[in-house]
Amino acid sequence: MSAEAELTIDGTTYTLPVVEGSEGERAIDITGLRSQTGLTALDPAYGNTASCTSEITYIDGDQGILRYRGIPLEEFADNPNFVEVAWLLIFGKLPNADEYKRFSVRLTNNANLDEDMKHHFMGFPRSAPPMAILSAMISTLSCFHPQLLELHTPEEFEAAAARLISKIRTLAAYTYRHSRGLPYMYPDPQLPYISNFLHMMFSQPYQRYESNAEVRRALNLILILHADHEQNCSTSTVRMVGSSKANLFASCAAGVSALWGPLHGGANVKVIEMLEEIHNGNQTADEFINLSKDKSSGVRLMGFGHRIYKNFDPRATMLREVCDDLLAKLGIDDPLLEIAKRLEDIALNDEYFVERKLYPNVDFYSGIILRAIGIPTNMFTVLFAIGRLPGWIAHWHEQNRDPGMRISRPRQIYTGNQKSSYINIEDRK
Ligand code: SDX
Repeated sequence: MSAEAELTIDGTTYTLPVVEGSEGERAIDITGLRSQTGLTALDPAYGNTASCTSEITYIDGDQGILRYRGIPLEEFADNPNFVEVAWLLIFGKLPNADEYKRFSVRLTNNANLDEDMKHHFMGFPRSAPPMAILSAMISTLSCFHPQLLELHTPEEFEAAAARLISKIRTLAAYTYRHSRGLPYMYPDPQLPYISNFLHMMFSQPYQRYESNAEVRRALNLILILHADHEQNCSTSTVRMVGSSKANLFASCAAGVSALWGPLHGGANVKVIEMLEEIHNGNQTADEFINLSKDKSSGVRLMGFGHRIYKNFDPRATMLREVCDDLLAKLGIDDPLLEIAKRLEDIALNDEYFVERKLYPNVDFYSGIILRAIGIPTNMFTVLFAIGRLPGWIAHWHEQNRDPGMRISRPRQIYTGNQKSSYINIEDRK
């Protein structure tokens, strides 16, 4: 007998089913609430609302658990391969050798942009925010690939997914090249996913960029750690947009815009700016911590806190290790890393953060790694988007395959003027 919830309103008791997920999470199913009671449930920012059921990612915020299709995140650390994790998230299992080969060939064959798309970059100022360009150019892909606006077969979907995952690298690299007035480097079909991205970012016509294994490993892991995070703001945005049957490109372009916000994916930029502020002597770590505890300052300890994790974000723990390991192997002594560790130590022993269960999140260390690789700060959130794209695609696909999918249309509680009348301008005060 499944559990039920009873709700009594104005003396009438209603019964609502309780649903349970595969990991024991429970929710009151309120799909019949309004038809039964005439009332809706109010939950601004959806902190108490499960918007869907999903089989893609499981998070336990109290235990600091994150699993992709059941596989714990930590198991990807030994031999990180972003392409196979993308397949896992989207198609529900790790690719076999034939699937991996097919997908890799698709990624290689779709890395180029239509030559006319390069003219679009000319229209952007060199100082344009990279996330603005990325969102615009992902949407623009729908103009150059009209055959993928409607996906009727698994083959068409796989082709569109591969095209997007491949081209986001090229769009990101060309955004960077344009900002520096550098010539675009064509993708090299001999290079695997990450190496090809680094080649397009950093090679010159007169000098090829040769990435080292440590950098490739770190970047594979960074992209894997960002690949999905269930119903976060940007993924919920992709689902919302996709629920109107908007195409995959338009839905992911909307996800880029949501990710841009400093409370979400934009935090990795704000973390570096915060660390540089402290490094430049404008503030000490202790002063910054005190500011971030003072609500009136409007300052937050960026890279700290999370809506779900009330324990360590497992991604932050792994990224701190990658940080230490990569900087040591590259022989980089970045003072910002020491400042980050000092901030973490202070915060983890400060009552304000302890009682609010505020721990480092995925954005706290990722920027220091990207800096060490040579990625400029204003490109950090673009790297987050490259990592998160497979998650967005997986959720868009999961929702679109659901025969019960309906357009998302939340309700509201109106608190505005009651009925009033039009007043002619000559009679207005
Ligand atoms: C990501 O959803 C996801 O999964 C996101 C993400 C993903 O993979 O998609 O994990 C990626 O977005 C990580 C978060 C990156 N953002 C930041 O690092 C920005 C700094 N963090 C915060 O602004 C905040 O912690 C959020 C936005 C992450 C979470 O905000 P919530 O859940 O709405 O929490 P809240 O704002 O209600 O804060 C609760 C309390 C408040 O104090 P009180 O009113 O209870 O006294 O904690 C305080 C807040 O003032 N607080 C902070 C703080 N974060 C929360 N105080 C100082 N510094 C902080 N960073």
